[in-house]
Amino acid sequence: MPAITTSRRDFASGAALLGLATASTLAAGRPAVAQPATIDPAAADAAVKSAYDQFKGLAEGKNADYIPALAKVPSNYFGIALVTPQGKVSTAGDIDPTFSIQSISKVFTMALVFQQSSEKFVEDDIGVDATGQVFNSIVAIEQHKGKEMNPLVNPGAIATTGLVKGANADEIWARIIGIHSDFAGPQLGIDDEVYKSESATNQRNRAISMLMSAYERFPSDPAQAVDLYTRQCSIAVNAKDLGVMAATLANGCKNPVTGKQVIDARHTPAILAVMATAGLYDDSGRWLFHTGLPAKSGVGGGLIAVSPRRFGIGTFSPPLDAAGNSVRGQRAITAISDALGGNPYAVRPS
Ligand code: DON
Repeated sequence: MPAITTSRRDFASGAALLGLATASTLAAGRPAVAQPATIDPAAADAAVKSAYDQFKGLAEGKNADYIPALAKVPSNYFGIALVTPQGKVSTAGDIDPTFSIQSISKVFTMALVFQQSSEKFVEDDIGVDATGQVFNSIVAIEQHKGKEMNPLVNPGAIATTGLVKGANADEIWARIIGIHSDFAGPQLGIDDEVYKSESATNQRNRAISMLMSAYERFPSDPAQAVDLYTRQCSIAVNAKDLGVMAATLANGCKNPVTGKQVIDARHTPAILAVMATAGLYDDSGRWLFHTGLPAKSGVGGGLIAVSPRRFGIGTFSPPLDAAGNSVRGQRAITAISDALGGNPYAVRPS
């Protein structure tokens, strides 16, 4: 009999059965430094190196295993990339290995739909409030009869993918992979092993889309949307790609490395607001309380966080806490942001 997994049934109950703690993930830190207008490059290098050294030995959490391919990723991988709007890149650790972006992709597909169809459309059609439930909750769909989701939990995210405009699945996919690539810089592709593994085990996501469809709350063909959503979750990135994607958000959606304005800057506040509300699922409030940073996690071990106008950070470390967020990633980003004065709410009296 295999061990109980963090399953297609319910991520949080699986994590609780595994005995993973939630409360120990974040240090009770407060920003020690006032907000600088720009980040000193030497200070950024030092903060990234220090966080890497401090947390590389931390052995809390566990790889996600409800997508079998994720369980095989080496748990000791740990990479950090901080990128400023001026294009300065500070890195430490494993920044070259690629991994699947998973739920971090939800941010960029949401951004695409903001651009194609407007923020109001997403607000009215999907919703922008926290569900208060785990990210793949079916209870939340029942409770709200398929409404009042947000684009960063699975029901809202799959529906958001279903809103991307295009003549056919190939054209829609070209737009989804295109916006991810523009945010990152290099042309991205998918991790085929993860795509196949998740496609074979995503019954719960298929059920979510069908249930929303039964409530007449699904915008397009549910089976096509789940397949495109599964592909977007399988996009292969490395920690530096994530750092640049986060920095593009910190820079008003203009990629600081390529110089491309990826989508209109006017969408930045709405993107960051949804990340602040729901980026770390049911731990989003606690994360914001400690860091003030809009962020987004993925069960592949990636995490991005944005300090508007100052920096974006991407981290990679597969072991997750009970809410599905990278343990070392959360600790490293908190320490780096505290060292650099990244909390946008840390206002000093004038
Ligand atoms: O749909 C899923 O379950 C995965 N493709 C993504 C979940 C995820 O990354 C949640 N993250 N913390």
